[in-house]
Amino acid sequence: MTIITNIGELCGIVPRGVLRKEGAGMDELVTLKDAFLTVADGRIEDFGHMKDCPSPADGDEVMDACGGMVLPAFCDSHTHICYAGSREQEFIDKINGLSYEEIAARGGGILNSADLLHSTSEDDLYLQTMARVNEMTAKGTGAIEIKSGYGLSVEDELKMLRVIRRVKEDSPATIKSTFLGAHAVGRAYSGRQEEYVDLVCKEMVPAVGEAKLADFIDVFCDEGFFTPSQTERIIIAGQEYGLRAKIHANELAVSGGVQVAAANGALSADHLERTTPAEIEALRGTVTMPTMLPGSSFFLGLPYGRAKDFIDSGLGIALASDYNPGSSPSGDMRFVMAMGCIKMRLTPERAFNACTLNSAYAMGVSDILGSITKGKKANLIITDPLPSLAYIPYCYQSPFIRKVLLPE
Ligand code: NIG
Ligand code: FE
Repeated sequence: MTIITNIGELCGIVPRGVLRKEGAGMDELVTLKDAFLTVADGRIEDFGHMKDCPSPADGDEVMDACGGMVLPAFCDSHTHICYAGSREQEFIDKINGLSYEEIAARGGGILNSADLLHSTSEDDLYLQTMARVNEMTAKGTGAIEIKSGYGLSVEDELKMLRVIRRVKEDSPATIKSTFLGAHAVGRAYSGRQEEYVDLVCKEMVPAVGEAKLADFIDVFCDEGFFTPSQTERIIIAGQEYGLRAKIHANELAVSGGVQVAAANGALSADHLERTTPAEIEALRGTVTMPTMLPGSSFFLGLPYGRAKDFIDSGLGIALASDYNPGSSPSGDMRFVMAMGCIKMRLTPERAFNACTLNSAYAMGVSDILGSITKGKKANLIITDPLPSLAYIPYCYQSPFIRKVLLPE
């Protein structure tokens, strides 16, 4: 057993069985000052006031938090970190005035990453992906969803998903994998979008499903990418293999993707930079977690999601990094939390819930992660002593994370 002693403040205590926070629930943040927490077999066994802390038995490890905070590690429910190389030339193109859509229309963007990935060996891709995972865990992330979508051919999509499976086996972080064959139309199918959708539904999905290489299925449902009806067809093909949907929607335009996600029981609808009251209405009362990605708003100069409108309508929201080479080259969840507060006017409590329990829900792991709850996996952050939770997004660059605990 590990006993963490002298915790200044234990943050994010949630009763067992609460899988997400919505509406006024987003404001709830239960903490305990001057606390201890015990970990056995990688799970949170107990916690309470320091005065009730058990004495260590032989073989127990004592970890003195020295007055620091203990928080659940961040969950990042939307990333594209399995990619090869980088795309800083497009970063310069954007500085010089080109938009994300213009770069994509010229054959750059996602297709550029697909070319790089095609010419990179599986081992090299694994090393590049693992380096990003290690970078993220060092910054406090304990669970990561990773998408395919830079393969865009049967072989290369499978190559990506095999790499993600290796990462799953080797990293102490909890990893979920998402098949995103419909991220863009592969170069070989240029001008033949419907045929590419056929390839996704009839060849890629069965190959991925039979090899059990993915937990979820995603489609980039947006202007210039895939339509709502193509999205629905792909989701339904995935359902045959038990792949739950997580949909990219409304990044570049009001795409109709949110409605498709909500109507098909998707786990999450992600991006939502462009959202009207109709999308909020479509999501109310559904199982779908609205997920916002302020990193891509920041990097591409897009509007930020209307998080407050969602919460005022009784919905929850999750925040994730979208870490990818084209629209968000950062997996720093503390920066995501800070942008949630600064740019989306979320209170620190709301931003914290969005980056922990709700982002765990959006990747299907909130029964085992995302809060301080007995029995949950002890993926934890220990910080230096901090004056309050608000200090985390306020001083978003100070190196106050002292330890990230990710039991095997
Ligand atoms: O979430 N929107 C689609 N996919 C990514 C960008 C991928 C890329 O440009 O490489 C995103 O922003
Ligand atoms: Fe994305």
